[in-house]
Amino acid sequence: MVYSILKCPVCNSEYDINRNNYLCDKCGNILDVIQKGLDNFELSDYAGVWKYKNLVHPGIEDKYIITRREGNTNLYKNFKISDYSGIKNIFLKHEGENPTGSFKDRGMTVAVSEAMRLGFKKTLCASTGNTSAAAASYSSFAGIDSYVLIPEGKISKNKLFQAVSYGANIVNINGDFDTAMADLRETLKKRNDFYVLNSLNPWRIEGQKTIIFEIMEKLEPDFISFPAGNLGNTSAFGKALMELKAMGKIKKIPELIAIQAEGASPFYDYINNRRDNIIPVKARTVASAIQIGNPVNFKKAKRSIDFTHGIVEKVSDDEIIDAKKIIDRSGIGCEPASAASLAGVKKLRENNIIDKNDAVVSILTGNILKDLDMNLSYNAMNINDILF
Ligand code: F0G
Repeated sequence: MVYSILKCPVCNSEYDINRNNYLCDKCGNILDVIQKGLDNFELSDYAGVWKYKNLVHPGIEDKYIITRREGNTNLYKNFKISDYSGIKNIFLKHEGENPTGSFKDRGMTVAVSEAMRLGFKKTLCASTGNTSAAAASYSSFAGIDSYVLIPEGKISKNKLFQAVSYGANIVNINGDFDTAMADLRETLKKRNDFYVLNSLNPWRIEGQKTIIFEIMEKLEPDFISFPAGNLGNTSAFGKALMELKAMGKIKKIPELIAIQAEGASPFYDYINNRRDNIIPVKARTVASAIQIGNPVNFKKAKRSIDFTHGIVEKVSDDEIIDAKKIIDRSGIGCEPASAASLAGVKKLRENNIIDKNDAVVSILTGNILKDLDMNLSYNAMNINDILF
């Protein structure tokens, strides 16, 4: 029988899943969900995330599952993307196609289902926008209340619009995302009636692993790139590859490429300058989704980079905007943070770290309509310009 436990990745202490605390009692680190008794990859009848139920939450009864059919997103190949990056075999996996327009839905379906299983009536998250939209949607869909901590004035209006419309209780935080995250951690210490939906909840990580499962079913890439902020995806992707390898499902392990914005790159510094600890920064970038200076998942994320011999790169805001224009004008489109995926790969190709014949998957984390604060300037024509 396959079942899940919680385990500390640092001191290996083990815990039952029926507790509302995802920090290790002994050393304070963020716990992992570990699937026990898993030696094969049995797929279920669901589509998307829950197709991989056995690898995500094998023990949960169907009656608790809150799903909006997230996952099962498309992989795109387009000549403009190949020309721009200098890589022939580059594919874009579009997580903006999820129900609320970002990859967060994959983690949220698992975490909110777990909130139902544990009997919670309230959820809580801090967010740069997308997590709040997904948390609000899935909580409301389940019939429970969501509370979202928002760094006031620092998230896209479109994402805030989603959270408000889906019915979240909005808590304005005077500060940035890192302040909101610190406030959330304080709240969790004092209250036990909120179920946390940030990626410090390890069930979020379990859901986000399915991005990698879907890619690896279709391709054998050399590299997988993605924007990195709070490092939930970086943690999830390495864990997914570790599990596939342990089950003998893959031979070659793709290298993970985590891309940060230059003005919000503490993980780049931590890995490339071999620091013992993350050094928090005051984050500044046009890509508000990844404007994070003190990422909570840095230890699990380092494990992922180590396991895949991966790379952490950083790109400027200009490089992000430039790449976004190409993605948008290829007809695919994405939000600003997502474009860091392509900007970083282009930079690594130019520096000969990626070869033009390598196979690369770049993950677009959010939809083109997610952030309209960026300049919308264009020269409109008049009907006579095209009639004559
Ligand atoms: N891309 C987008 C569009 C995001 O919204 C986020 C994170 C990331 C990339 C970074 O992913 O945190 O797993 O490294 N957004 C969070 C939020 C922080 O609150 O919506 P990560």
